[in-house]
Amino acid sequence: MKVCPDATRLSWHVRRDGMPQSSSHSVLARAASRFFLPHRRRIALILVLALSTSVLAVSEPLLYKLIVDSLGSGFSGITIALLVCLAVALVTREGLAALIEFTVSKIRIALNFDMLKETNDRLHSLPVDHHGGESSGAVLSRIERGVAGSVQAFSEIALHLVPSLAYLALSAIIMVRLEWHLTLVVLAFAPVPALLGAWASHEQIDRERALMSRWVRIFGRLNEVLSGITVIRSFVKEEDEKRRFLSGVHDANAIARRGFSRDARVNATKNATMAVARVCAVALGGCLVARHDISLGTLLAFLGYVGGVFAPVQALTGMYQTVRKGSVALEAVSSILDAQDSVGDCPGARDAEHLRGDVTFENVSFAYRKGPKVLRDVHLRVRAGETVALVGRSGAGKSTLMALLQRLYDPDGGRILLDGVDMRSYKQKSLRSQIGVVMQDGVLFDDTIRDNIAFGRPGASFEEIEEAARAAHAHEFIVKLPQGYDTRVGYGGSLLSGGERQRIAIARALLKDAPILVLDEATSALDAESEDLVREALERLTKGRTTFVIAHRASALVQADRIAFVEGGTIVEAGTHRELVRSRGPYSKLIDRQVRTLEAVSV
Ligand SMILES: Nc1ncnc2c1ncn2[C@@H]1O[C@H](COP(=O)(O)OP(=O)(O)OP(=O)(O)O)[C@@H](O)[C@H]1O
Ligand SMILES: [Mg+2]
Repeated sequence: MKVCPDATRLSWHVRRDGMPQSSSHSVLARAASRFFLPHRRRIALILVLALSTSVLAVSEPLLYKLIVDSLGSGFSGITIALLVCLAVALVTREGLAALIEFTVSKIRIALNFDMLKETNDRLHSLPVDHHGGESSGAVLSRIERGVAGSVQAFSEIALHLVPSLAYLALSAIIMVRLEWHLTLVVLAFAPVPALLGAWASHEQIDRERALMSRWVRIFGRLNEVLSGITVIRSFVKEEDEKRRFLSGVHDANAIARRGFSRDARVNATKNATMAVARVCAVALGGCLVARHDISLGTLLAFLGYVGGVFAPVQALTGMYQTVRKGSVALEAVSSILDAQDSVGDCPGARDAEHLRGDVTFENVSFAYRKGPKVLRDVHLRVRAGETVALVGRSGAGKSTLMALLQRLYDPDGGRILLDGVDMRSYKQKSLRSQIGVVMQDGVLFDDTIRDNIAFGRPGASFEEIEEAARAAHAHEFIVKLPQGYDTRVGYGGSLLSGGERQRIAIARALLKDAPILVLDEATSALDAESEDLVREALERLTKGRTTFVIAHRASALVQADRIAFVEGGTIVEAGTHRELVRSRGPYSKLIDRQVRTLEAVSV
């Protein structure tokens, strides 16, 4: 059986400025080819259309020259024919431009869709801590700005790059043929805007990066604030948070403002250069016309080209900036797409079907990212159908052990066997379908109660949903709600109490009917009476299933077949309640403490 080689730990390459570390050209080239190659036919069409419009644009000043020169012999048939040619050229050019815009916008929409789809797919398949502590708001902001920036850069390049290059080349050839002295004057000025643009682009790219990381941070924080709005209110922190938000926005705006003023100065210098070039061309051209070296038509055509040549030069220098800005945006998208997926399915992984439920932790050790070891040498064998309680101080590593069991992370050392087989040989999705989980905070979705309970088994009938709700003692409060099972629970289940949320989460796990069950403080938010009722339901539920119970209260522990005491990331003792109480180890001390507390209260 093929088991993945030691999975390398995931690293989410993010620099302090929020950009991925490996902004290598290969990463960008990979991202570009992934998104742009599928549209190569349409892109080729744009290129052909763009070349045609450039030819038409270049012919315009030439037609002016021919029209003016033809007037020497009066308003003849030739003049009329040339005017018709001009009209056809102009109308065709506009038509082609509209077609290009339409095609570009089609690709834009498709690109936008592809990028959103791929980043969204990726976010669902990455390990749970993939974004290295970044909030979901920050990730969303990164996606939103990254996708919009990439698409914008693509349209600018598609609309301007080829037409600009073609126009520049063609007009230079025609100008040299018309009058090379004048051409030299004009071309002497042409590199100035290009050099200025290249000089300014370094600052622009740094600014773009700084802005991206600022906005990612601002929206990351806002997202956290909105999710924890009740904490903000109870600590009376609204004004602080408003101030923090606005100061972030001011900070970002100040960067943008400084950049704009610099851009304005650079642009003004570029425009002044062009104006000087034009004046020089008029002066020299005027002299040549006065000396009858060139016709008035030639001067007119020339002035047309002078105006026309600088726009592509500008566009090309702008293009350099656009490409670099676009690469920053594409980096942001790549940082999600290229994050290493250390817990992906191994090659040759198979479906985990009908597991019996034997679970063995074999010398498992684990650390979150590069942090300290949270689990060390955990060894625990659980037989199918057995209920094991994990007990230990807060932070001992109980929930982490259960996260490994769901393969949300891979162990750094050792392995976890399910029915005697390394769990990495199973496909993740099929593996998780074999494990029912009720967590401390019972996360629900802003959906109806019915859909929340049926989350793990969407095809469940209403009778089955109600049965699960009854077993979890949730039915009583559900029917009292205005819309019963069709009541929406609000964002994260916020319209329900903590205990109600937990009971819905228990019903959800009951309905999933998986051979392995993890109850991580599943009843911590219930009062003693409800807890007794729910425990009764849980006892029924755990029959015949391998169950891991994490609980602090002694009452929840005594019913377990076996108890494993976790301390400092390892299991220091394991056995039945009786055995552990007799051995006078840490577990018995914990129980003694609880008993003493109860006695002290009841005295
Ligand atoms: N996502 C995470 N990233 C980094 N460290 C984490 C993460 N989750 C937990 N830890 C750390 O791992 C250690 C074990 O945490 P864990 O949640 O497994 O403890 P626990 O035994 O379940 O505690 P509790 O009884 O309070 O729920 C703690 O020191 C905690 O700070
Ligand atoms: Mg925990």
